[in-house]
Amino acid sequence: MTAAIIDGKARAAALRAQVASAVAVLHAASGRVPGLAVVLVGEDPASSVYVRSKARATREAGMTSIEHRLPATASADELLALVAALNADPAVDGILVQLPLPKQIDERAVIQAIDPDKDVDGFHPVNAGRLATGIAGFVPCTPLGCLLLIRDVRPQLAGLEAVVIGRSNIVGKPMAQLLLAESCTVTTVHSRTRNAAAHVRAADIVVAAVGIPGLVTRDWIKPGASVIDVGINRTDAGLVGDVDFAGVSAVAGAITPVPGGVGPMTIACLIRNTYVSACRREGVTPDPAI
Ligand code: GUN
Repeated sequence: MTAAIIDGKARAAALRAQVASAVAVLHAASGRVPGLAVVLVGEDPASSVYVRSKARATREAGMTSIEHRLPATASADELLALVAALNADPAVDGILVQLPLPKQIDERAVIQAIDPDKDVDGFHPVNAGRLATGIAGFVPCTPLGCLLLIRDVRPQLAGLEAVVIGRSNIVGKPMAQLLLAESCTVTTVHSRTRNAAAHVRAADIVVAAVGIPGLVTRDWIKPGASVIDVGINRTDAGLVGDVDFAGVSAVAGAITPVPGGVGPMTIACLIRNTYVSACRREGVTPDPAI
């Protein structure tokens, strides 16, 4: 059997187009243009690329991109003062502080300083708590993007066995919560799990987010399973995921490629969250299709 290849690039383009239309409707109705503030501290090359892509996608959706760059030597107090100013600015609907931060700055303190109702990254503990308890908030963009891709190939999620590999606050934990909210039976596999392969072999849905190139091999996969690869690993062989694509695509029912799978969905979901934030702040119901 050969797996269907999940086209994240096309799905992300469709979502971005939907958001752009909805932004135009919001603007026509209220005169409001959603604004996303992106903060980059230092000059990490990968982070600079991400920040530029986020700003471009924001503008392409008809929203305002507000970019702030601080030097790598910036103090925590400088960054916290900027976050406080963005919290207070009515033109700012979403705030994203690009991670990782330089080592002199405590990431947790910065995340906790962001107004939870502008936290379009969904990293604030209030938003993590809302997700865990079923209250509307902001869901982190990468797991939200994964869920949209999973729903496309598995419209009936209730009762399915799902395994999430990885337990980060950014992907693994919120992914497990999202799948639980969809009534999947969820197992989180991590570095201390005994016999990870045995857990994964029972799964209808596998989300790999550990950052180990090619960890998930063909013999780990139940025939027909849906496999979502969040890994972005730069190796001598180029960019590879956490899943051995060639082997796994021979047994899975559907699989995301790297690149072109989950990656493009992250930015599309950031744009989506910013639109939703602007609607909430304006007291308007967001387009339910988004
Ligand atoms: N660094 C890598 N991914 C992300 C993300 O989704 N949000 C932020 N703020 N930083 C990141």
